Amino acid sequence: MGSSSQKGCGFGSPWALLYCWAVLLVTVMLRMPTYVEGEAVAPQQCNAKTSRPCPTMVGYEAPVTFDLSVIANLFSLNTSQLLGPNDIDPSLGNHSGLLLPASSGRPYLIPELCGCLGGQRVVTSVNYTIVEGDTLSAIAARYLNLVTYQKIANVSGISNPDLIYPGQELLIPIPCSCLNQSGSLSLSYQINTGDNFTGIAQLYNVSVTQLEDLNAPAKDSDLQAEDVLFVPLRVCTANFSNNALDQNMTVVEGAYELTAGGCVQCNCHNGTLHCIPASFAGTKCPNMTCQNSGLLLGERNSTKGSGGCAVQSCVYKGFTSTSRILSSLETEEDSSCPAAPPPEAYYKPPADLSLSPVGSPPETPSITSNPPPDTGSTSSPPPGSGTASLSSIQAMLSALWWCYLLVILLVR
Ligand SMILES: *[C@@H]1O[C@H](CO)[C@@H](O)[C@H](O)[C@H]1NC(C)=O
Ligand SMILES: *[C@@H]1O[C@H](CO)[C@@H](O)[C@H](O)[C@H]1NC(C)=O
Ligand SMILES: *[C@@H]1O[C@H](CO)[C@@H](O)[C@H](O)[C@H]1NC(C)=O
Ligand SMILES: *[C@@H]1O[C@H](CO)[C@@H](O)[C@H](O)[C@H]1NC(C)=O
Ligand SMILES: *[C@@H]1O[C@H](CO)[C@@H](O)[C@H](O)[C@H]1NC(C)=O
Ligand SMILES: *[C@@H]1O[C@H](CO)[C@@H](O)[C@H](O)[C@H]1NC(C)=O
Ligand SMILES: *[C@@H]1O[C@H](CO)[C@@H](O)[C@H](O)[C@H]1NC(C)=O
Ligand SMILES: *[C@@H]1O[C@H](CO)[C@@H](O)[C@H](O)[C@H]1NC(C)=O
Ligand SMILES: *[C@@H]1O[C@H](CO)[C@@H](O)[C@H](O)[C@H]1NC(C)=O
Ligand SMILES: *[C@@H]1O[C@H](CO)[C@@H](O)[C@H](O)[C@H]1NC(C)=O
Ligand SMILES: *[C@@H]1O[C@H](CO)[C@@H](O)[C@H](O)[C@H]1NC(C)=O
Ligand SMILES: *[C@@H]1O[C@H](CO)[C@@H](O)[C@H](O)[C@H]1NC(C)=O
Repeated sequence: MGSSSQKGCGFGSPWALLYCWAVLLVTVMLRMPTYVEGEAVAPQQCNAKTSRPCPTMVGYEAPVTFDLSVIANLFSLNTSQLLGPNDIDPSLGNHSGLLLPASSGRPYLIPELCGCLGGQRVVTSVNYTIVEGDTLSAIAARYLNLVTYQKIANVSGISNPDLIYPGQELLIPIPCSCLNQSGSLSLSYQINTGDNFTGIAQLYNVSVTQLEDLNAPAKDSDLQAEDVLFVPLRVCTANFSNNALDQNMTVVEGAYELTAGGCVQCNCHNGTLHCIPASFAGTKCPNMTCQNSGLLLGERNSTKGSGGCAVQSCVYKGFTSTSRILSSLETEEDSSCPAAPPPEAYYKPPADLSLSPVGSPPETPSITSNPPPDTGSTSSPPPGSGTASLSSIQAMLSALWWCYLLVILLVR
């Protein structure tokens, strides 16, 4: 699988070209009548002097299959930073040309910093350098209109939006919010046509009240497509040692973060953080065995006693500036005395994912937290199709993505 690298616009295939024009026509027709806004439903006020930046997430609703490094670039990140929040196999971090499927259900999560500009909370960590042929509205469209071109012009100090030059640096101020209870993370969610509070609350397993509070005084009728709604994401909050550098680690539910210089992977499931050695932790990683035990980080060992079981576990407690991994051996009584748990598995890549030899990108992996359903023409290839058809489908998907960008440029 994935033996040929299909980066860029796979226009070599006549099918891809045909698809391109079909998508072009349909998209132009669909997009013509709507003018998009890209404002926050309820912007959060702040004070540039006293409000500190906070971590936040931006929702990226990928319309078609996309190249992770293109999106990472667009949001001033490296690809590694996008893996954890989206629960993508961390060992794929070094592969360029990693293609991911279009969003289905939930958008991809892009980790950013929420700062304060002009009295409002906006993302202050995304910069864009203008290239030949850009227009401000085309640039806003590349960010899926999460922000208006007028706002980009304003915060970048451009008084005439028609007067921009290649090489000029822009700030992309996507609306965001900071939640004031620690251990929560706000998501800037772009509203789709037909969205309502109940549906969005269900999508993220939060209460409608939580959603409404964060966006007060909004109601269903305020939900305009392409505006930004804030969603309080469920997260796991670390309880590490006070002297740990990663003391305040926050991991989104169903996702993971790498820490301790990439040696430790902390997974968040059902509100519980579980840290284990990262699957590709190299020999440069410090000792990850709990003191006075043979247990490795994250491992458990239960011993039958008179009243039940004593379950010992090796719990990660953070890492220090001297690159030492802190851990503690914790014991709890368990009356039900479970069968000895199997040693915690390290991160296992999805079974259908085969890593290709160095240099060639892997096939589109499945995103474990959010499996893409079969959506017809843009879905993954049917089982049993040979290598040749696989790569032409990949070419087509890649062409679709570039088409989409082209369409946006033409329409705006
Ligand atoms: C990606 O960026 C983060 C934060 O800037 C940095 O810590 C990390 O080393 C980078 N990873 C790679 C592979 O460049
Ligand atoms: C990525 O590459 C760097 C240097 O080439 C290496 O140190 C690191 O371990 C690699 N990371 C992964 C996840 O393979
Ligand atoms: C940005 O907007 C503010 C208030 O709306 C205005 O005072 C300021 O002049 C604008 N800046 C630019 C560069 O247009
Ligand atoms: C990003 O753009 C803003 C506004 O143009 C500028 O002030 C800031 O220095 C830029 N940041 C980086 C990292 O280039
Ligand atoms: C912060 O929390 C306080 C008390 O819980 C609440 O009254 C206030 O509205 C919150 N502020 C924001 C911006 O969420
Ligand atoms: C709200 O959205 C959900 C999911 O999109 C949908 O199933 C439901 O019918 C909508 N409810 C109303 C009242 O529109
Ligand atoms: C939703 O949240 C509740 C706790 O509020 C939790 O018990 C439940 O497992 C969650 N559901 C899913 C599907 O994650
Ligand atoms: C955090 O850890 C300390 C000991 O390291 C423990 O006493 C405390 O109960 C923990 N808090 C939570 C909320 O788990
Ligand atoms: C973690 O948060 C606490 C409280 O906000 C703060 O005092 C502390 O400095 C933070 N620790 C780190 C390592 O950032
Ligand atoms: C999380 O909770 C769900 C149901 O609430 C359960 O099916 C699932 O196994 C739990 N996951 C873990 C890792 O405990
Ligand atoms: C790691 O630490 C444990 C406990 O302190 C010790 O028993 C073990 O020998 C160490 N392993 C290595 C490779 O240093
Ligand atoms: C698990 O506990 C038993 C009984 O205390 C002990 O003999 C064994 O060495 C332990 N295993 C590990 C990996 O610590």
